[in-house]
Amino acid sequence: MKIIELKKVDSTNDYCKLSDKGEDLIVIAESQTAGRGTKGRSFSADIGGLYLSIMRHHKRFPAEHAFKIMINACVAVCKTVEAFGANPQIRWANDVLADGKKICGTLIENTFSGAYISRSIVGIGINVNNDLPEELKEIATTLHTVTGKSLSVESVKNILIKNLEKQFTVTDYKNYIDWFNKPIKIINDGAEFSATALDISDDGRLEVLIDGELQKISSAEVSLRL
Ligand code: BTN
Repeated sequence: MKIIELKKVDSTNDYCKLSDKGEDLIVIAESQTAGRGTKGRSFSADIGGLYLSIMRHHKRFPAEHAFKIMINACVAVCKTVEAFGANPQIRWANDVLADGKKICGTLIENTFSGAYISRSIVGIGINVNNDLPEELKEIATTLHTVTGKSLSVESVKNILIKNLEKQFTVTDYKNYIDWFNKPIKIINDGAEFSATALDISDDGRLEVLIDGELQKISSAEVSLRL
């Protein structure tokens, strides 16, 4: 696959979108000036981290299988940080944590054509050696911090790219979750609910018990606090 490496860009996801000529592409930047997160949030992306987007064009990828894209991205990240000695956990749907703090975020932007996904842009930001802004230090961490090792972003990139070529299953994804059957908080529009997570369905919805009632929720609606 063609790989473009940049020193600085606004957002590698946006770069993919704007340079789309129909071919699959990986874009990597040393830093981003307008890194984007899910739900319209920004993503801190200073030098020392790995910021990568992979754009793929699909022929007949059913929209109802969209969660597979998330599975492949999150498991690829988990396997990558594991290779350096971290002990990753997935916080459904798209965050990877290590030592209870966020080490990676994933932003997936799909283009739909009828019942199919015609293009997916998977943006991955892994905190490797980057300094985190003060306000994120409580909730985020870096691969350097959790492993105590000085790491080359280049080697993390190479392993991630290899792992992104692999296909993973929902079982692989769930193997990185240790918070089933434990109390969690669900945040919906600023309101917090206590819940117990039971499972994740094949379509990516979280199955939770809230006040004894089974509910299946989509990640577009809520966030989790573990
Ligand atoms: C999140 O945590 O909400 C998702 C963060 C995704 C960040 C990555 S960094 C590479 C790509 N480019 C972006 O602008 N965002 C993603």
